[in-house]
This record gives sequence, structure tokens and C-alpha cells, in this order.
Amino acid sequence: MPKRSLPLSQVYRLLEPGPVVLVATARAGRTNIMAMSWHMMMEFEPPLLGCIISGRNHTFDLLLASRECTVNIPTSELAKKVVGCGNTSGRKIDKFRTFGLTASASALVRAPRVEECYANLECRVVDAKMVARYNMFVLEVVKAWIDPAVKRPRTLHHAGRGVFVIAGETLRLRSRMK
Ligand SMILES: Cc1cc2nc3c(=O)[nH]c(=O)nc-3n(C[C@H](O)[C@H](O)[C@H](O)COP(=O)(O)O)c2cc1C
Repeated sequence: MPKRSLPLSQVYRLLEPGPVVLVATARAGRTNIMAMSWHMMMEFEPPLLGCIISGRNHTFDLLLASRECTVNIPTSELAKKVVGCGNTSGRKIDKFRTFGLTASASALVRAPRVEECYANLECRVVDAKMVARYNMFVLEVVKAWIDPAVKRPRTLHHAGRGVFVIAGETLRLRSRMK
């Protein structure tokens, strides 16, 4: 079958990268969570993470002001809560309470970790030069937590319009990699 032209507006659906995460922030005693799928690794160590956060989101204001957040990686059981955090604003509701998520204290940043997520990354904003142009924050992961009981995390990958692919099969090709 011949290929058809794909509208440019749909390109992100092919390339949207690895797992949907929950970004948690805190400022002046209030906490917030938002869903985020537009992120990319930029360096191995110290780990650097590029994140696109819309200026319309409450998280944008909190992150710009506090310069700290946690990036929490949920598995498929949390899918409905993730979508909830991605469709409501922390300006109006307390998302930890509304979605029954647990805020646990971080070691190095004031933003809380989302306990139910199998991995939590404590992050600081290390470069905000691209925020004005692209809404892109560069985060450094300063502390990382992982649940050793979760051997094969079934992470969520957004394919657009509320469709998610759940990570499944594992291919081990280590011997073929440089
Ligand atoms: C699966 C999913 C992925 C999302 N990815 C992003 C993203 O990468 N960047 C972004 O700015 N918003 C993203 N959003 C939208 C925000 O999560 C949404 O605007 C949220 O309501 C912001 O909350 P806040 O105002 O409390 O910060 C995503 C939403 C969903 C459901």
C-alpha cells in the first residue's frame, strides 16, 4: 500500500519519547503535579533532562520560581491518575488529594516525590536560557530513587489523543552494541 502524507501536526505522535512522567513542584507550602511526555535525556552523568512545559501550566510558574522539581515515573496502574493530573490545574485543585497520591519528602529538593511511582528523580533547573523561546527547562537529576521490587516497569507512552502504549517486550542486544 502506498504511504500517505501525514499532517505535520501529527508528527509528534510518531516520535513522542519515553515514559509519561509526573512533574511535582512545591512553592510556599503548596504542592502540585502535572503529566509530561515531552522530555529528553541530554547527558549521562550528571543526568541532564530537557523538558518542555507550557507557560499556561501552573507548573511552569512554580518551576520558574522554585527552580526545583521531581520527575516521577508511573506505571500503567496509575494511568487514570496520570490523565487526571494532565487535565486539571493546580491553580484550582490539590492534585495529591484529588487523585489520592502520596507526597513523600525528597532528600535534596523541596518538591515532594510521588510515592506511588516506581522511580523518582529529584531535579534542579540548571539552564533556563531556552525557556523564553521554547518553554524548555534543562534539569539536572541530583538524586534518583527506584523501587527494586518493580522488575519490568510497564510504563506509559503517550501516542496522542488519550492513547497510550504500555511498554512490554524486552529485547536484550547488549552484545551487538558498541
Ligand atoms: C499524557 C499527557 C502528557 C502531557 N505532556 C505535557 C508536556 O510534555 N508538557 C506540557 O506542558 N504539558 C503536558 N501535558 C499537559 C499538562 O499535564 C496539563 O496542562 C496540566 O493540566 C498542567 O497542570 P498544572 O496547571 O497544574 O501545571 C500533558 C498531559 C497529558 C495527559
